[in-house]
Amino acid sequence: MTSTQPKPSMSELQQRDHGVGHDYAKGSPHIRHHAIRDRLITGLHTLVQEVIDRNGRCRVLELGAGHGTFTDHLLAAGAQVTVTEISEPSVRFLDSRFSRNPNVTVVHDQDGTAACQAGPVDAVVCVSVLHHIPDYLGTVKQLVENITPGGAFFSAQDPLWYPRRSRTSMSLDRNAYLLWRLGQGQFRRGLSTRLRRMRGVYDEANEADMVEYHVVRDGVDEEALRDHLASAFEEVEVQSYWSTQSGVLQAIGERIFPPSTFGVVARERR
Ligand SMILES: C[S@@+](CC[C@H](N)C(=O)[O-])C[C@H]1O[C@@H](n2cnc3c(N)ncnc32)[C@H](O)[C@@H]1O
Repeated sequence: MTSTQPKPSMSELQQRDHGVGHDYAKGSPHIRHHAIRDRLITGLHTLVQEVIDRNGRCRVLELGAGHGTFTDHLLAAGAQVTVTEISEPSVRFLDSRFSRNPNVTVVHDQDGTAACQAGPVDAVVCVSVLHHIPDYLGTVKQLVENITPGGAFFSAQDPLWYPRRSRTSMSLDRNAYLLWRLGQGQFRRGLSTRLRRMRGVYDEANEADMVEYHVVRDGVDEEALRDHLASAFEEVEVQSYWSTQSGVLQAIGERIFPPSTFGVVARERR
């Protein structure tokens, strides 16, 4: 790419990766592996029920809902849900999926700012999305401003902050990923990505470097998130766990490997 070509927007880059017919389950441990998925769904049901018990209703803002895999569970738990998506094809999918459901509003968040202006909500839910947002801390701070007293914040499936992890933990994680790519017949792609990462090269026009933004940089800072949430909520809990794409490695790793991934729940907005 020459310097005269305009830099693609984050929305264009996300769309390239989450286009028409995108399979959200394929590279997603939290959808593919039942232990992670079941914990996540239970957490969402508990969250909605607790907010309904405290506030009498639960209006959820779900950021980056993809194809609505977890929207269904929020609805089943009794929430009204506003879903946002930066990818236009995913917005169209959500529109057609929920067009007859009066409890769902779909918002095309083209520049990633609409979610922060969505008005008062009782809970914010982010499933596997914070690591896609370059300024995730700034975004979370703005989202928290819109949560009503008694409300909650829930996020899951982001990589733990790499600088705090051991070398063993990082190399187990990376080798598990490489093995999964091998199983997909994409060993060369996995290897060339690994080599580019080792050289610390990032191309702002290449979706491989921009879409999974913090996965290919330093991970997501769970302690910074926890500290910010603790200033606004009565109770904050960070839950860390091992997750990887391969089913076999997941079954072994969740028993014996150090955590690679985390979720956070904040209850009772002050
Ligand atoms: C890994 S997918 C997760 C989708 C869904 N939450 C799930 O777990 O199945 C991340 C999604 O976030 C969307 N996304 C990325 N940045 C976003 C932003 N700033 N606002 C809204 N959606 C965003 C992407 O288009 C993509 O659909």
